[in-house]
Amino acid sequence: MEGIVVRDLKKTYGSGERLVKALDGVSFEIAQGEFTVILGPSGSGKSTLLNLLGGMDRATDGTAEVFGKDVTKYTSRQLVDYRRRDIGFVFQFYNLMPNLTARENVAIARCEGSMDELAALKEVGLSERANNFPSQLSGGEQQRVSIARAIVKKPPLLLCDEPTGALDSKTGRRILALLKNLQNEIGTTVVIVTHNAKLAQVADKVILLSDGKIADIQTNPTPAEAGDIEW
Ligand SMILES: Nc1ncnc2c1ncn2[C@@H]1O[C@H](COP(=O)(O)OP(=O)(O)OP(=O)(O)O)[C@@H](O)[C@H]1O
Ligand SMILES: [Mg+2]
Repeated sequence: MEGIVVRDLKKTYGSGERLVKALDGVSFEIAQGEFTVILGPSGSGKSTLLNLLGGMDRATDGTAEVFGKDVTKYTSRQLVDYRRRDIGFVFQFYNLMPNLTARENVAIARCEGSMDELAALKEVGLSERANNFPSQLSGGEQQRVSIARAIVKKPPLLLCDEPTGALDSKTGRRILALLKNLQNEIGTTVVIVTHNAKLAQVADKVILLSDGKIADIQTNPTPAEAGDIEW
């Protein structure tokens, strides 16, 4: 299976005077099984890029091949299958269903070959809160439920938008360790978007975004263990 090849990807919002070039011709490659951190200031296009890779939104121009297929050419129907089958997505603002418990929120993402939903909640340290509703959980706990939901199907591509944004350093390190484990044990390709430059220490590849453009791409021959990084 191939990795990710993005070529001259563009996304504009609005039109005329109010045209926003959220992504202005972005190109990069990510190898299968690589752990990538996308860094950039607020408004630089990080979430936009992740949404395009995850088939949540449509590109304006350019191509984005994921595992050998250009997702920008998918029909709506193909995008549904792609999101369900290939993608685990951790949303910046969790997107949990308020009327479902933690366990039920994770269970709805299961598919053939999935982990048990309680096993996924255990992975994120939330076994004891399985029957709580999102409103009964802290921000960090809701974030961990959303991570459990993303990993339960052991997706080949895991896309995480600020996965540690609401977490203290101890829980954040633990979540990073969990993501690194998925990479090592099942070969998951992991892409994390964050404005926290410290997370770059664990990455194989770091992509810097600025104003919708690539400012720099660095590869790290010796990524740190999650437990060893300064926060
Ligand atoms: N639906 C939308 N309609 C119009 N403009 C949008 C929309 N979504 C994003 N933008 C604009 O596109 C640009 C990139 O936004 P994006 O959400 O990708 O940034 P980001 O890097 O994720 O920022 P943050 O770190 O604050 O989450 C911003 O200027 C934003 O205002
Ligand atoms: Mg964002």
